[in-house]
Amino acid sequence: MPQPQLKKLDFTIADVNDIYSGPVGVLWEMLMGEQIHVGGEQETRALAKNLPITKNTHILDICSALGGPARMLVQHYGCKVTGLDATQHMIDEALKRTTQTCLTNNISYKLGNALDIPFKSHTFDIVWGQDAWCYITDKDRLITEVYRVLKPHGLIAFTDWLQVGPMSEQEWSDLNSFMAFPYMETLNGCETILKKTGFTIQQKEDLSKDFTQHCHQYQTILRTKLKDQILKNYGEELFQAADQGLNLWVQAADQGKVGRGRIIAKKTL
Ligand SMILES: C[S@@+](CC[C@H](N)C(=O)[O-])C[C@H]1O[C@@H](n2cnc3c(N)ncnc32)[C@H](O)[C@@H]1O
Repeated sequence: MPQPQLKKLDFTIADVNDIYSGPVGVLWEMLMGEQIHVGGEQETRALAKNLPITKNTHILDICSALGGPARMLVQHYGCKVTGLDATQHMIDEALKRTTQTCLTNNISYKLGNALDIPFKSHTFDIVWGQDAWCYITDKDRLITEVYRVLKPHGLIAFTDWLQVGPMSEQEWSDLNSFMAFPYMETLNGCETILKKTGFTIQQKEDLSKDFTQHCHQYQTILRTKLKDQILKNYGEELFQAADQGLNLWVQAADQGKVGRGRIIAKKTL
């Protein structure tokens, strides 16, 4: 069902940089692991399994963060991956870990904004993204940029956090007390943007049930395994903010307002 459009919140790339250069970024890694998306390695396998990845495939990972998925893809398929991320600290950390695992022949990283992808047209076989495009306000422009840098008949494959039910402006603003998502698309909204840009949908899956289960899991991990460590290293204020913030997401997921989806689509020409 179409959702009434919520007002987009005023977050900028500077807000994203603050998050991923500081303790909140560390907290996400503590909760999710170095693949900072719901479902970790299992989800990377699930997204990759329907893609024709070989050692000759060149993938662009948009919002590559710590480079966990890039390393896993290269280790598994021997492909080439370029990571693009807007936060210098993430680029530095990704490069450090990639050097430590001796994978720099196959993986490189570039600092840049997904809305102005710093690569020439028709460069990549696959554009990849996991749980990060919800930080981006202008999704039309993002998808147009993806289309431009893909080779003819190239694939876009991504998961993202989604709006799956109606909510008020206040609820959306509260959910962002600990996040910086300007707005989230619906699964059908993603499909509409992709189709009008010139993609054909190959796979479209609502993963919201799994998202809800994971939200509960992350809340348990935060309140048990991680609590003392966070209090000791970052103090009461950050722990409370994370706990209250995550609790709102757990409730919204339980109420069918927020979720997650996976899409694969092909560039038509
Ligand atoms: C949740 S993390 C991404 C996790 C990563 N995809 C993974 O699976 O490990 C979000 C990342 O998106 C990056 N980011 C957010 N907005 C961006 C933009 N407009 N352009 C490039 N990177 C962006 C942030 O710097 C951050 O590193």
